[in-house]
Amino acid sequence: MVTVTVCVGSSCHLKGARVVIERFNELLEKQGLQDEVVLKGSFCMERCGEGVNWQIDQEPFTSASEEEAVRVFREKVLAPLGAKSADEPRGTDRP
Ligand code: FES
Repeated sequence: MVTVTVCVGSSCHLKGARVVIERFNELLEKQGLQDEVVLKGSFCMERCGEGVNWQIDQEPFTSASEEEAVRVFREKVLAPLGAKSADEPRGTDRP
């Protein structure tokens, strides 16, 4: 089980944290990984700065844009869990 926590403090909110959470959630649904990844919000992570702050388990990330957050999420969360490709739902492989 992987826990992804996105800061929803006021600074990160203004930089797009809500959209980042929506995109992560969409990707988890598309990949059928909602049971393997817990997506949570948190209060200020005390790292307010140049972007949205979030973490994968205890590893911190700061993403300057929604696209960057999604790229890292695909690489560090979806790919290790065996997600096929960016937009292809799991379980659609044909023999
Ligand atoms: S509001 Fe997100 S780190 Fe402070």
